Amino acid sequence: MTAWDKKESVGSTTGAGAPAPSDRNTLTVGSDGPILLHDVHFLEQMAHFNREKVPERQPHAKGAGAFGVLSVTEDVSAYTKASLFQKGASTDMLARFSTVAGEMGSPDTWRDVRGFSLKFYTDEGNYDLVGNNTPVFFVRDPMKFPHFIRSQKRLPDSGLRDNNMQWDFWTNNPESAHQVTYLMGERGLPRTWRQMNGYGSHTYMWINAAGEKFWVKYHFHTNQGMAFYNNAEASAVAGSDADIHRRDLFEAIARGEHPSWTLSVQVMPYAEAKGYRFNPFDLTKVWPHADYPLIRVGTMTLNRNPENFFAQIEQAAFSPGNTVPGIGLSPDKMLLGRAFAYNDAQRNRIGTNFHQLPVNQPKVPVNSYMFDGQMAYQHSGSAPVYATNSGGRPWADETGPVAEGWEVDGEMVRSAYSLHAEDDDFSQPGTMVREVWNDAQRDQFVDQVAGSLLGGVREPVLSRAFAYWKSVDAATGQRIEDKVRSGNAPEPAEGMGEGG
Ligand code: HEM
Repeated sequence: MTAWDKKESVGSTTGAGAPAPSDRNTLTVGSDGPILLHDVHFLEQMAHFNREKVPERQPHAKGAGAFGVLSVTEDVSAYTKASLFQKGASTDMLARFSTVAGEMGSPDTWRDVRGFSLKFYTDEGNYDLVGNNTPVFFVRDPMKFPHFIRSQKRLPDSGLRDNNMQWDFWTNNPESAHQVTYLMGERGLPRTWRQMNGYGSHTYMWINAAGEKFWVKYHFHTNQGMAFYNNAEASAVAGSDADIHRRDLFEAIARGEHPSWTLSVQVMPYAEAKGYRFNPFDLTKVWPHADYPLIRVGTMTLNRNPENFFAQIEQAAFSPGNTVPGIGLSPDKMLLGRAFAYNDAQRNRIGTNFHQLPVNQPKVPVNSYMFDGQMAYQHSGSAPVYATNSGGRPWADETGPVAEGWEVDGEMVRSAYSLHAEDDDFSQPGTMVREVWNDAQRDQFVDQVAGSLLGGVREPVLSRAFAYWKSVDAATGQRIEDKVRSGNAPEPAEGMGEGG
């Protein structure tokens, strides 16, 4: 006997709220007859089903998330007036973690950078921090971003992923060396999202109540302790449980184990940017902690699972362009490029009024002069639709220097960043290989890179890859070349070498 026969549940409705006739049988002429066109309920079900997906994110399609709270325990008011960062503040938030290059159904344990997106529902509007689990990135000019992402995805003819294409891009763009070193190292394969760090990656601006400006970098250190997969484990898990990271987060929160991260910032006085030994707006560089130590801010805790994945995670829309008073962007060209890209992607992916959906709505009243459009839900009644107006509807009118601005001069050019005293593409990754890692981590790295290169990388890319790693560290590069030439590297893990 099935649930139908027991009539366990009676009473769904149509989209219009009227009782639905049947979720089991279509309306037909006789038991075996043709289906009737006026079975409106059936047609509505079919038509809606055809539209029930939205385009997946491009990139960062595969991910999941949870709600939580940011609690500020320290006084950083000397650096920012943003209300969410004032001591004692507690702000509701949403986090989404993701892989970059994989599609919606791809395994969570492919080697890749992980997205670390945060939306804070502050009392001054939504603040989004859309970072990764690495403090640096592959490129430093947004013009290269679509090329980079395509090189990590699929070949145009076979639709297959391709190590040769990935390495071709990386070795032709040596500014990628720092991020690729990170990706190919131990931290390139987190065991769970709960056990990875998050970074804002870019340099942002903070502004205090007196109008003083600072440059900041955000660090979210996991309180669960970092843990990683090795390649063999990751490959096995990719086959047996492709959703392991999604599952781990959801089940941990459901069990009452609420993961948390300690938020710290590095703060650079505004005037020090020009003379700093590295260009502080170059996303391929870190600021060594010896130069700018971590300053603790508070704790982020995830404590509530979504009730509905599609409504609250798939339709969530994060944008680095969403800032609040006391926080600004910076001259980082990547960040400036991103400030446009995300909301545009979301208008395409979700719809013109994506910002009106409950998960994206700010908790503060909105008085926006964006009107109508598909699926408009919030509206301003008969209030004037233009500014300025005589109907009493407020409009914005800041003039003069902007609080979160910086000075620029010079003619318009297409050019790389200006180099600071110690800027080059290979020193910082070289330091990581030589000074941060131990022997075991270096061995693992050599195996990882060699395995990836043996996974179909051809000349001339191969020779360029050897030169690339010798530029990072001569001895390590030689070991990689020897291993590849002898054909003696372990099997690469699935998805190895991708990132974004
Ligand atoms: C110019 C460079 C970049 C461009 C144009 C770009 C563009 C995009 C776009 C269009 C999306 C999909 C958004 C959506 O459909 O909702 C996305 C997702 C994402 N990007 Fe970027 N991106 C860039 C660089 C970066 C960097 C440097 C980071 C990290 C530091 C990053 C982190 C993310 C994350 C975490 C997501 C997923 C957001 C979510 O969870 O919904 N991206 N990116």
